[in-house]
Amino acid sequence: MNTSTTAKVTIDPDYRIGTIDPRLYGSFVEHLGRCVYGGVYEPGHATADANCFRRDVLELVRELNIPITRYPGGNFVSGYNWEDGIGPKTQRPARLDLAWRTTETNQFGLDDFITWCKAANTAPLMAINLGTRGPEQARDIVEYCNHPGGSLWSDRRVANGYRQPHQIKTWCLGNEMDGPWQIGAKTADEYGRAACEAAKLMKWVDPTIELVACGSSSSGMATFPQWDATVLTHTYPHVEYISLHTYYNNSNNQKPLPAFLAQSLDMDAQIGAVIATADFVQAKLRSPKSMMLSFDEWNVWKNLAEPNKPVEPWAIAPSQVQDVYTMEDALLVGAMLITLLRHADRVKIACIAQLVNVIAPIMTETGGRCWRQTIFWPLLHASKFGRGEALQVIVDSPTYELPDHRPIPVLETMATREDGTLTIFAVNKGAEALPLEIDLRAAGATRVIEHIVLDHADLKAANTAAQPTRVVPHNQDQTRLEGGRLQTQLNRYSWNVVRLATIGQ
Ligand code: AHR
Repeated sequence: MNTSTTAKVTIDPDYRIGTIDPRLYGSFVEHLGRCVYGGVYEPGHATADANCFRRDVLELVRELNIPITRYPGGNFVSGYNWEDGIGPKTQRPARLDLAWRTTETNQFGLDDFITWCKAANTAPLMAINLGTRGPEQARDIVEYCNHPGGSLWSDRRVANGYRQPHQIKTWCLGNEMDGPWQIGAKTADEYGRAACEAAKLMKWVDPTIELVACGSSSSGMATFPQWDATVLTHTYPHVEYISLHTYYNNSNNQKPLPAFLAQSLDMDAQIGAVIATADFVQAKLRSPKSMMLSFDEWNVWKNLAEPNKPVEPWAIAPSQVQDVYTMEDALLVGAMLITLLRHADRVKIACIAQLVNVIAPIMTETGGRCWRQTIFWPLLHASKFGRGEALQVIVDSPTYELPDHRPIPVLETMATREDGTLTIFAVNKGAEALPLEIDLRAAGATRVIEHIVLDHADLKAANTAAQPTRVVPHNQDQTRLEGGRLQTQLNRYSWNVVRLATIGQ
């Protein structure tokens, strides 16, 4: 326990955690609220392109450099017929979506999403319906997407105007199948068997694909982590990843800030528990394969406890779960990104949920403007600078105590290295400025390139259509490097990115 007021960190680039998979900075587009309609897709919008994709949204998505995007759900996928969303738009049926109690018009579907992915420079992470459907439809969708031609479904794709296969590499076997809220929820054995059979058929159609099995929908489930162990026991040889989800709530901004910001430690514990569970199954099955983790839904979801159904059922694309993020939310998102980086050896995919309007870094007005929420910034910085190798950092941080007496480090930090640049990400969770000393003698750091800071005097400050740049990053120039030792001060409640040139640059 460090009772001083200074944090001390040591970084040695020889101590590596692993190579960062760029897919750590993935996101998620679900047919929920205004994520698709009025978000990525809006006929008639001033910026809409020939496909009715909003170019203003595309620009921000490209700025974030999102390597992979999960689609089409979420809870939505568990009642979805993917065939409804292909072919001529005038012939696509409107359906009741029981997950969110809305009407789905199917004007945007699978092929449209693939076209959008190309425009957004992202790869699809396609989820299949294992709620109301099974192995047969799982086989069909892979045939439609990935088979070159000469069969019923691949020829249907060609007839729909897509001669080249979509070549979707990574697929999710359902969504949150342990949750009673899920359409077609299952026991671990029921789901494990269904996922195993679906996986076999999908890989028999295309052996090059990789698959994500549904882990527990949160570490708060009574069946966590036994669900994960049972599911993996059924599916281990057929899948490459087990999924994790978490959302941290802020009960309408009422949760005490120290407890709110401490929640990234729960994410760390959840990852540790799933790794231990996967490794237990690996040992039990005497498998040489290490299971990787896909943290394919994570974010702050402030009003999680509130019912998220629209007041008027069966509306088309109503405003649902449109959280407005504040400065303090950006701090927790930053700490969660640091946590994911800390496990870069096992967490290979992670998707901030979601991308546009629905608990999202990007917000839009239907027919109007689009802007960056506060949480856009840590995601952008991590995606831009957090590539290459994840490094072990030795941290000696002051702590604060929660009412349950848990000591919480005031400093959350992580380092990455790529092409002669060392990047240090840090969150100061404290109410005071935090002096920070970093021993970089082994790192060959030669100069400070920049120190980016995101902070705000008002922790409830948010960006809105009227004030889109209220919370934006700025640079500080008080960070010094001398004799391989870095000295700086992290502003109270701040997200920081310190970038350093190293020998060879
Ligand atoms: O991202 C919103 C919802 O949260 C998803 O549909 C579901 O998978 C999770 O419970």
